[in-house]
Amino acid sequence: RPRVLSGIQPTAGSFHLGNYLGAVRQWVALQETHDAFYMVVDLHAITVPQDPAELRANTRLAAAQLLAAGLDPERCTLFVQSHVPEHAQLAWIMNCLTGFGEASRMTQFKDKSAKQGADRASVGLFTYPILQVADILLYQANEVPVGEDQRQHIELTRDLAERFNGRFGQTFTSPKPYILKETAKIYDLQDPSIKMSKSASTPKGLINLLDDPKATAKKVKSAVTDTDTVIRFDPEAKPGVSNLLTIYSTLTGKPIAELETDYEGKMYGALKTDLAEVMVEFVTPFRERTQQYLDDPETLDSILAKGAEKARAVAAETLAHAYDRVGFLPAK
Ligand code: TYM
Repeated sequence: RPRVLSGIQPTAGSFHLGNYLGAVRQWVALQETHDAFYMVVDLHAITVPQDPAELRANTRLAAAQLLAAGLDPERCTLFVQSHVPEHAQLAWIMNCLTGFGEASRMTQFKDKSAKQGADRASVGLFTYPILQVADILLYQANEVPVGEDQRQHIELTRDLAERFNGRFGQTFTSPKPYILKETAKIYDLQDPSIKMSKSASTPKGLINLLDDPKATAKKVKSAVTDTDTVIRFDPEAKPGVSNLLTIYSTLTGKPIAELETDYEGKMYGALKTDLAEVMVEFVTPFRERTQQYLDDPETLDSILAKGAEKARAVAAETLAHAYDRVGFLPAK
């Protein structure tokens, strides 16, 4: 079985619809066909300041949401990044293989540090993508299921894998991004020219999966469309309507062409009312399942402990190999 690995930050509290449609939904599907490793990336989270109690709560909350979304600990390895110390260890080696200019070109760092002010951004934020490289290479992942915004980090991973292999001999698998075209980028409901995100979206443009379903329905109904009235998938000319059709199609499994036919001659209001209902039907059981996992922290923690054990077995082997290649003296 080919291997996949991916991660999600715990910082946000509730996952948003972009996280789910762009990434987590694929994670659930891939556990059936791949040897799958998924993690909550708490080491990445502390690249910006975190309240310790909140970080701990949000890490459990992220794991609960992943299980609620359909990850099955019998079918995949679900773990917390800080439980596997090899991530930080391999990241150091990768830091030493990365050019300063190369790291400076990472667009996510540029955006995030611009927002914080360059003087306040941490060195950890700067090397964030390199930790991600280590995450992926430790598991010899063949594919990495993510949204479009992570593509550059996967390209860096490929570059560093090939650089290490070229310098020290074949050690790491060079991974491919697994990005589904349809859901690679889910857009803000109020401003369909930007991606849906915690940091850039306004509350009305952002669908948090754990919000009150009624509030979510309201946001869908007030989504920005355009002054035209035709319901047609055309991301260039009709980004708002196309985003709604993408969301609708993905959540229901109905092809977009079929939706276009269903809504021929109908108003935007009809589409939004129906999509609001689809969304409520999706988030209501999702919230309930998440709460069930949160209500039983012992079970949740034991799932994560087993996951960490399985992950460590793989990570430790890769790290030992890398240490040897680099020329570190064995400890005994
Ligand atoms: P994070 O936590 O920001 O986001 C988790 C996943 O959600 C996807 N995503 C979106 N997809 C489509 N449309 C959107 N509007 C949207 N917003 C977010 C992201 O692309 C991502 O797949 N650096 C990563 C976490 C990470 C990781 C890794 C991923 C750490 N190590 C190793 C893969 C492999 C991140 O911050 O994701």
